Parts: sequence; structure tokens; C-alpha cells
Amino acid sequence: MDYSWIQIAVAAVFISTVITLVLSRGAGWLSPTFWRNAAIVSSLVMTFILLWLTFDTAGQVRPGAGHVPDWTVINYEIHLVWDNEKRRQVPAVGAETGFFGKTWSEEEAFDLINKGKMTLQSRNCMECHQILGNGAYYATDLTRAWLDPWWEERIMPLTGAKTREEAMAAWLKNPPAMPQGPRKMPNLHLNDDELKALIAFLKWMSAIDTNGFPPRFGVIQ
Ligand code: HEC
Repeated sequence: MDYSWIQIAVAAVFISTVITLVLSRGAGWLSPTFWRNAAIVSSLVMTFILLWLTFDTAGQVRPGAGHVPDWTVINYEIHLVWDNEKRRQVPAVGAETGFFGKTWSEEEAFDLINKGKMTLQSRNCMECHQILGNGAYYATDLTRAWLDPWWEERIMPLTGAKTREEAMAAWLKNPPAMPQGPRKMPNLHLNDDELKALIAFLKWMSAIDTNGFPPRFGVIQ
């Protein structure tokens, strides 16, 4: 669906007015009949629009459709590109790179990302971080953490990691021993499987088109 909210609002007012006027022919605009019809018609029109938007959203947020990538996106390079029409950055999927040295099938990728989400919940990362804006505000929003240029610019050279996922794993394994900003992330003693799953979840999430959110990277001072 490619209508803006303003187009939908104007269309709703227009349609409600036309139907009300047709139903109230002969009744003056001050008569109770006109206003009763207006109330009923606008409620029905808005109910219809709400239902339509609900189904439209449900379709767009399904993995592999609209704004949300397929699970197998973890096998590809992901970067941000400027979209002139939308006037914001959108995630774009590049060449196939594999993830931790292999190409994950749809089912394997789902299991891994699902485990990442479970780990994220059980370790309560959101006690400090946010995901899609939800959580606590001690540390950064992790929605686009995968895309942070810092991994390539700073952590890959420092750890000698060949890929971004390895650099993130090295950092997350022991954050106190790594470069950090003024706020510190403790060592959560994550094992290698948990790290792989968490990073898969973060990589998948970074390819979601979040309407440009969060707008920037960086540490919280
Ligand atoms: C006690 C608070 C706390 C908890 C719990 C926590 N973190 Fe952090 N995390 C931080 C802080 C603070 C930073 C920022 C460090 C810095 O300034 O570089 C950070 C940074 C990060 C980064 C780098 C972000 C970026 O954009 O470069 C990632 C990734 C990350 N955390 C993942 C996690 C995951 C996954 C969990 C759960 C397993 C978690 N964190 C739990 C405090 C926390």
C-alpha cells in the first residue's frame, strides 16, 4: 500500500461527507438527521479503514514481505542506502557473504534467529538496551547495531577478525576488555552458540525497514 496518512485521512473525510449528504437529502445541515447520519457513516468508514490497515500491516511485518526481511538475509551483506523519495536511509541487501562461514537454509536461519531472540530475552539485554525503541535507555538501541561502522573501523582491526560477525562475537564475549564508551557493558558470559544466535538476530533485525529508526550510531555519553 503506497498511500500516505494524509491521503487516507482526506479520502475518509471525503467519502464520509459524500455518503452522509446522499443519505440526508432534503434534511438541512442543522437537522439532527444529518448529524446522526454523519456519526454513523464516519464510524463505519473509519472501522473499515482500521480493519484494512490492520490487515495491511500484518502483511507488511511478516518475514519476507514488505518491511521485514526473510530469515535467510543473514547470508547476505546488508548496508544502508539513501532513498531520495522517502528522504531517509533504507536497508539494502547486497552480495552473498555467508554467516560464520556457512550459508544457512531457511529453516536453519529461522532456528538460529529464534534462539537469538530467546537468548536476548533470557539474558535481559533490554534491561539496558532497546530493540525497535522498546526497552531501557542506559545503552543504545540495538535495532541497527549490526550496521554500526565501528565494527569494521575499530573492532575488526583490533581483534584481527575477518568478518563483522566474528568482530561482534569477540567484543560481546568480553566487553570490559574491549574499547567502550563512558557507559560500560558487563561480561554476560555468553557462550559461542549464544553469541552466534544473538548476532544472527541482530543482523536479521538490521535489515528491517524501520522508517529510518534509529537515526544515528554512537555511544551514549
Ligand atoms: C548492564 C547493561 C547492559 C546489558 C544487560 C547489556 N548491554 Fe550491551 N551495551 C551496554 C552498554 C553501556 C553499551 C555501550 C558500550 C559502548 O559505549 O561502547 C553496550 C553495547 C552493546 C553493543 C554494541 C552496540 C553498537 O551499536 O555498537 C551490542 C551489540 C550489545 N551491547 C549487545 C548486547 C546484548 C546482545 C545484550 C544481551 C545479551 C546486552 N548487550 C546486554 C550495556 C548493556
